[in-house]
Amino acid sequence: MKDQIYLYPLWIRIWHVVNALLFIALIFSGLSLQYSNNTFNLLPFDFAVSMHNISGITLSIAFVFFLFWNHFSGNGEHYRIKSKGYCAEVFRQFRYYAFGIFKNEKPPFPITEEQKFNPLQKFTYVMVMYVLLPLITLTGLGLFFPDILPDRMLGTTGIHFVDLIHIVTGFLLSIFMIIHIYFCTIGRTCSANFKSMITGWH
Ligand code: HEM
Repeated sequence: MKDQIYLYPLWIRIWHVVNALLFIALIFSGLSLQYSNNTFNLLPFDFAVSMHNISGITLSIAFVFFLFWNHFSGNGEHYRIKSKGYCAEVFRQFRYYAFGIFKNEKPPFPITEEQKFNPLQKFTYVMVMYVLLPLITLTGLGLFFPDILPDRMLGTTGIHFVDLIHIVTGFLLSIFMIIHIYFCTIGRTCSANFKSMITGWH
């Protein structure tokens, strides 16, 4: 274990697997609800509604757990963006992914215990965990309790407006998940990062 570092404590691994499974359930049931009509159902309609509601509520609870634990365990330090020189660092990482990696260059920000995310990864995780997940959770709650929504918002009904934000956010998070899994294959070997997320050791 000498040349390995412990990056993912047990609570992150448990939260992450629960979150990923619920996400897959939400994408399937969400797509089914979005594209159901009289002639086509990906899943039976009532089943898709229950699946979406139960998975969404469980994911929200898991998300609140993540926020608390991330803050109090110290893992939140990895999500702190320092403004000085940050854009240049993101650009260096972007350049590496676009060109350097194909020329066998060394990664500009090697993983250490103090810096487990590269700048681009950090930006993405901050956007996902602190912007998109709160947005999808709050709009989801609004749709679950439609009485709390205003009747009209920006020239349309409150439900329609909130639903639009919910769907667009869901779409962005689905795209994130595909890109996230692809980038996780970029490691020492194709499966190394996935093994790290199972064992905790990088
Ligand atoms: C089947 C789906 C997924 C797989 C296979 C997967 C895989 C992984 C792997 C291998 C890592 C560790 C490498 C790294 O840090 O980049 C990771 C970290 C992470 N993933 Fe995923 N992921 C999935 C879904 C998701 C989803 C849906 C989200 C959020 C909406 C998410 C958020 C995160 C975050 C925030 C981390 C860093 C956790 C930390 O150490 O603080 N993942 N994922």
